[in-house]
Amino acid sequence: MKRKGFFLVLEGIDGSGTTTIGRMLESELKSKGINAHYTFEPTFGPVGSLIKNILSRRVVMNSGDRKELFDQKSVALLFAADRLDHIKNEIEPLLGKGFVVISDRYKYSSYAYQSLFAKESWVYEINRFAIDPDLLLFLDVDIKTGLKRVGIRGNVKEIYEKADLLRKVRKNYLRDIRKYRYARIIDAGKMLDEVYLEARSLLFERLIEYGFKVQVN
Ligand code: TMP
Repeated sequence: MKRKGFFLVLEGIDGSGTTTIGRMLESELKSKGINAHYTFEPTFGPVGSLIKNILSRRVVMNSGDRKELFDQKSVALLFAADRLDHIKNEIEPLLGKGFVVISDRYKYSSYAYQSLFAKESWVYEINRFAIDPDLLLFLDVDIKTGLKRVGIRGNVKEIYEKADLLRKVRKNYLRDIRKYRYARIIDAGKMLDEVYLEARSLLFERLIEYGFKVQVN
């Protein structure tokens, strides 16, 4: 069954600009009178908050001499659980009301990041119930640019923000992304306004195809 709303997903390595672009798209759509909702993963929900704590090393371990912060396969399960809750309680209800839902990260993050620590087929399996988006935009930046932007942001350094790891993540993304008919790759190393215009044009084109009345100018 064709859904009423439109589901856009933005993906990329850390520092690729998914948050900035997602928020800009939401704001422009709203200014054009379209119901739009920006959301993100990990979410603000109970599981998402736990994940954020694990990623920023805030979880206190009281079991003596653990070498690892947290088991990575368990993290993969947490991401999948957070996602199912996100879909059921936020994404699907809004799609049902005809909203354009913009998710900053989704199951493709799990495929790209968690498959570094677990078998890829298992990561697919635990995300089996996550619905496909109508459009997936991959914001592609090189590792140096991504890490530089993350550094500028000045947040607590998270566990995946390392060059060697992100290099593999980007490779995973690029390998996967071409498999999906609904995916497009954007060169996100360019200036923000250029990246935005490209994302906007790909989204608007698709929205019009889906019957949304969007004024392009
Ligand atoms: P953020 O920086 O966009 O808030 O994302 C937090 C980190 O979580 C980022 O390094 C990517 C990672 N991540 C995964 O590893 N798997 C996932 O499924 C998601 C949604 C994010």
